[in-house]
Amino acid sequence: MKTKHLLSIYDLSNEEIKKILTFAFELKKKKKSVDTFNGKTLGLLFEKPSTRTQVSFAVAMMQLGGNSLILNADTIQRKRGESISDTARVFSRYLDGLMIRAFKHSDVEEFAKYSSIPVINGLTDYEHPCQILADIMTIMELHKIKSFESLKKLKIIFIGDGNNIVHSLIAISAVLELDFTLICPKEYQPKKEILNRACERGAKIKITDKISEVKDGDVVYTDVWTSMGFESEEKKRKKFLEPYQINDELLKKASTKCIVLHCLPAVRGEEITAAVMDKYENSIFTQAENRLHVQKAVLLHLL
Ligand code: CP
Ligand code: NVA
Repeated sequence: MKTKHLLSIYDLSNEEIKKILTFAFELKKKKKSVDTFNGKTLGLLFEKPSTRTQVSFAVAMMQLGGNSLILNADTIQRKRGESISDTARVFSRYLDGLMIRAFKHSDVEEFAKYSSIPVINGLTDYEHPCQILADIMTIMELHKIKSFESLKKLKIIFIGDGNNIVHSLIAISAVLELDFTLICPKEYQPKKEILNRACERGAKIKITDKISEVKDGDVVYTDVWTSMGFESEEKKRKKFLEPYQINDELLKKASTKCIVLHCLPAVRGEEITAAVMDKYENSIFTQAENRLHVQKAVLLHLL
């Protein structure tokens, strides 16, 4: 059987996404453990810092009866030039799965090419699929949505930088046929190819630079203006993205029942005010918690 990887939301079918989310809800209800992974080990390889992804995957493996091994990319022989293909083949002999947080998406694809174990994207410059699965779970939970059909009726808005989070949001909107609006300056739009792929599937995605489009939004989501790996552009990004902050004024335009999401970490006072973070603490931290439940469902699906 072909090894199944999760590098992009597009690696999952509509049915698989629904299955993972349904499973995540069941696992959340059951609280802790299902002892399925007796003796299995997941490698967690990080080229960039992480709080949520690192801890939720490690705890997920523990709660499933397995183990995890956190590997800092600076401390393995890759740092001294060992190839991805050789590293992947070595990992495949020790581990049962490998999660990678990398700068370059193509490096994760190369790992997957040479791995005989499932490879999971834990964030690249291109996508963050595990995050976006947890986001959809959170939207369903907090808006009390019981069917995937009703999910299509919500107006989901992302405001800010057209980054990796946005790419995965576009992809999941295409697969689940969601009503998604991206509000971003024209300087920081998402990559054309991800949009083209979504459009080919008939996705209902709107892209605008007009903040007024937040009107009637049921979900208002943002992320940092400067993602990891883009630090040299910070000043320029701030200048273009400043009008796209989530603050009390902006939220007056959204639906009165709107929830605010942020994948975290947040820069309070930049993409979101401290007041909004605190007011919407429940939705933002439920979103963080749901990483754990989704991680478990993803691992049970792949490993
Ligand atoms: N949202 C997210 O992936 O958080 P970390 O960078 O802390 O893992
Ligand atoms: N877009 C952010 C997400 C962090 C979870 C980044 O890539 O840094």
